[in-house]
Amino acid sequence: MTQASMAHRVVRSCEYIPCEEAFVDTRLPGREGKMNYCIIGPGVAENDRQVVHIAEPHGFNVGGVSLPTGKINSLHSHTTAEVFLICRGEWRFFWGYDGTDGEAVLKPGDVISIPTGTFRAFESVGSDDNFMLSWLGEDDPGHVTWANDVIEGAAEFGFYLRKDSSLVDINAGDPMPAEEELLRPLTEAELLRYNRTSPAEMAARVYNVERFKGATDAFADCSLPGGAKTYHPIIGEGCHERSDTPAHILNPHSFSLCAIEAGPGNGFLAHRFGVKQVLTIGSGEWEVTLGDDRFTVGPEDTVSIPADTWRSLRNTGGEAGVVYLATSGDLHAGIEWSEDVQSKLG
Ligand SMILES: [Fe+2]
Repeated sequence: MTQASMAHRVVRSCEYIPCEEAFVDTRLPGREGKMNYCIIGPGVAENDRQVVHIAEPHGFNVGGVSLPTGKINSLHSHTTAEVFLICRGEWRFFWGYDGTDGEAVLKPGDVISIPTGTFRAFESVGSDDNFMLSWLGEDDPGHVTWANDVIEGAAEFGFYLRKDSSLVDINAGDPMPAEEELLRPLTEAELLRYNRTSPAEMAARVYNVERFKGATDAFADCSLPGGAKTYHPIIGEGCHERSDTPAHILNPHSFSLCAIEAGPGNGFLAHRFGVKQVLTIGSGEWEVTLGDDRFTVGPEDTVSIPADTWRSLRNTGGEAGVVYLATSGDLHAGIEWSEDVQSKLG
């Protein structure tokens, strides 16, 4: 691996490039100013003008969104997992095919996994300084299914969706597709197939590292200098070394998600995994070593870690920090320690 090939795997939050018209709903009244980001993979963006920072498949996609306060991201559904991390701001989620099955107001540090096949929407109810990171399951998460009023309303503003979910912008001069090429509204029978998720079911799919204890001995290096950390198994089989560490959310997502909390000078000693991982900084300043390269990263920065590459992670800030680690695949990922770490472990 060359220096350049690792540097492009570090995407800093200050470099994230938004698309203001990523989706068909963006011209509807009350939706103005939505910014969507594709950090890893194209996700479900409908606009081919959306910038994708890292296109390489990872087994899941990573994106982001910000919204002016009071504005809404319209009701829609996905066929794969959608997980949000509230980084900044306060967000009200509401769900059900008419948006009335339940609601939850989430705050920074909250992680929510929305069940597939559930209509969901959200709005910013805090400050305009807001951002959510999102993980979408699978390399190809398919298409967004919008609530019928979104598709019908968008047409009044010159936006149409083809059946392949590509956007038609009449205002920008796109020709009007033939009727049979256009996405049609869902029938009553189709709508009835979508999930009705209760508030209690949704509440069980929210995690925050501040509300859960985590495990301080989930990895062999936790007992070594520089390796002290708390492991929070949020979603899936994970990458820990303890057999009795079930995740908060167990249904398959195509990735596992955990959080690692560590104090100054601590983190992960040198190790590698046989699958791709994506690191997102929740809080603090961290040094990531990838192969021979070393990077300092901070809140909301994202790092793509190739399979089989030796890496280490260290909190270089003055306070405890949190990183989120998404691991490709539904299977438990086994860790391999460097020879140096193995010799210290005896
Ligand atoms: Fe979504």
